[in-house]
Amino acid sequence: MPEITLTQAPAHVRHGSNIGQPLTRRDGILKVTGGARYAADNHPAGMLYAVLAVSSIARGRVTFLDVATAKAHPGVVEVMTPANKPALAQDPDEKTNPFVFRLDLLQSERVRYANQPIAVVIAETLEAATEGAALLSPRYDIDTPRVGLDATESFVPSAVGPGFPPAAHRGDIKAGLAAASKRIEATYETAPQYHNAMEPHAIVAAWDGDTLSVDTPSQGLAMAQGRLAGLFGIAPNKIHIRSPFLGGGFGSKGAISGPQVLGIMAARMVGKPVKLVLRREQMFGPVGHRAETRQTLRMGADNDGKLTALSHHTKTASSTFDDFFEPASDASHTLYASPAIATSHEAVRADTGTPLFMRAPGEATGSIALESAIDEMAQACGLDPLAFRLKNYAEVEPISGKPFSSKALRECYGQGAEHFGWEGRPLASRQMRDHDGLLVGWGVGTATFPALMFEGHARAVLRQDGSGTVEIGAHDMGQGAWTALAQIAADSLGLDIDHVEFRSGTSDLPDAGIAGGSSHTATAGMAIHNAGADVIARLADLATNDHRSPLFGAGNAGVIARDGRLFRRDDESRSESYADVLRRAGLAAIEGQGSAAANPAAQSTYAMHAHGAVFAEVKVDPDLGRIRVTRLVGAFAAGRIINPRLVRSQLCGGMIWGVSFALHEHAVMDQRSGRPMNPNLAEYHIPVNADVPSVVAILVEEHDPHVNALGIKGVGEIGITGTAGAVANAVYHATGIRVRKFPITLDRLIEPQA
Ligand code: MOS
Repeated sequence: MPEITLTQAPAHVRHGSNIGQPLTRRDGILKVTGGARYAADNHPAGMLYAVLAVSSIARGRVTFLDVATAKAHPGVVEVMTPANKPALAQDPDEKTNPFVFRLDLLQSERVRYANQPIAVVIAETLEAATEGAALLSPRYDIDTPRVGLDATESFVPSAVGPGFPPAAHRGDIKAGLAAASKRIEATYETAPQYHNAMEPHAIVAAWDGDTLSVDTPSQGLAMAQGRLAGLFGIAPNKIHIRSPFLGGGFGSKGAISGPQVLGIMAARMVGKPVKLVLRREQMFGPVGHRAETRQTLRMGADNDGKLTALSHHTKTASSTFDDFFEPASDASHTLYASPAIATSHEAVRADTGTPLFMRAPGEATGSIALESAIDEMAQACGLDPLAFRLKNYAEVEPISGKPFSSKALRECYGQGAEHFGWEGRPLASRQMRDHDGLLVGWGVGTATFPALMFEGHARAVLRQDGSGTVEIGAHDMGQGAWTALAQIAADSLGLDIDHVEFRSGTSDLPDAGIAGGSSHTATAGMAIHNAGADVIARLADLATNDHRSPLFGAGNAGVIARDGRLFRRDDESRSESYADVLRRAGLAAIEGQGSAAANPAAQSTYAMHAHGAVFAEVKVDPDLGRIRVTRLVGAFAAGRIINPRLVRSQLCGGMIWGVSFALHEHAVMDQRSGRPMNPNLAEYHIPVNADVPSVVAILVEEHDPHVNALGIKGVGEIGITGTAGAVANAVYHATGIRVRKFPITLDRLIEPQA
């Protein structure tokens, strides 16, 4: 394939014509007018409704289900149980790779966690299916459930997160602590959290012989297709998944979940299309969560306020039947420059569903503990917490010793502090009050998230009429992928966005990889960019090899593309329209392919991260302990910004997750029954507009030449990191009370904890 320079220096030809523009969401009007069709909005002819019956115990066996009564209920068509479920081609407990999670697909009567599916009732109406499920009246053999971090004996997992080593170190912690003039040791606890996207997991499944069509939300279409192909023993290309819009994912729609597969099994059983939608409370079990953690941090600093040692140990929980371990300690790998760093993890097994990737898995959880501990260390040194961070933030990635591919953290601290008005902050706590007598506190936290890429592919077509089409099986979870990727698509073809049709959201299109790890814009965007560049390279070949073209002899790399024309790089007065090139070549259209993945050479040379600094103001009622976050200012450097409007929205959303982590989200597990006691959005608290009156995201300019050719880093998850700690530190600054158990609730401020 001819090499064309524009793939390596896109800035030279882009002129920001599409990339960089603050376009509004292309799907915005569809969404606000109800025109966007989500999975559960589909109603194929003859469709039946499936409703899950879920376990009310957390451990034991189902000994009886009143199938006869449920089946006799008017409208009920079938009751699917372990006794009659359709056969699968693969054992759902088989672990073929670490990213294939074990599923509960009625393979036995055993119950491994509360809200585990134990039967599916299929009926002509949703009401009949719901009533049928209630009539099953299950009886159980109940074993004592084990929940919480002290439920069972702990062990060291063989890997944490997506396969990271459970422990790492650099330097000598003992020596570092011994050399310190000030030391702290503190233990922080974080609560179990459940993903709770606005759209619950839903599926409409229809079989036509051996061909399967499904409408279901997915953050990874090809991965879901592969998983379903294995379970049902059919070729992946016989499976068509449509997922044009997702009402949020947060990691819980990364891998296909058990309930989604049960919907497909139900459709196979009755030979008709079936819809299955999880009720909100059914989200608290079979579709993943973030496990609780208990994290102990030890730090030492010398007389100059420089860290001499940093150790971070995490205890977390996984399920009894599968492995996912929140990699919280790894947050300490990247942020602060200590000559000695040690991180480690241990875990217990509990009778819960298997935890999963959730909104900055590890980074969020570890960050709130690390940022709180850094604050405690600053306090021990008698230093302002921002000044302490400025003394100690890492210039090279401390654990790996690799230089950052680019880093604008100091700029983030500076711009954030200035916008917030940090200067003049009293060092001691409990010094500021507003005119209503509320205690006011200011806190800061450092944000970081790795700049990841997975593998993705795209296809681009340029037609003689000057229009283009770009296709990729990408995912819009609400983050704006349809818009940002269309901007990249248009620039890749050198066309205005209105002349490019962007097609996305089905598994029939090229695999876009997974929308996770804040990597989607980089991965899918680079695949699109390369597909467009492939088209332009082919077009440039046609022109530069044709003596009738004004570009003849310019050489492929001597041509640039924009506004539907090719130009000679060294003489822009010589140009030709795409249409003319194609017409003369007798081609109606020209097609190109592109792929993208992380560059292993760059990755082994550089540590790649986005960075940021978040400043929070809270007000606390001194009598009632009520906490309000009144201001949040985050400054973030995340490489090239494709669409500043959408990026700000992502960053603000992430910061609100941070408030949620610090003050709101807490799945309360009943120790006796092993059941979540607040499986609804009334009692599982999340912030609403009134909880965060002012959120500002500042985009700090950063050009990272190493992450990928477009310089894109992720913005999806970084906002939660830093923010949660900033809020916790602001609560301390307001009240003088250091709460080490999250979420921070008002009772802890009224009755200080040990
Ligand atoms: Mo996410 S937790 O990277 O979907």
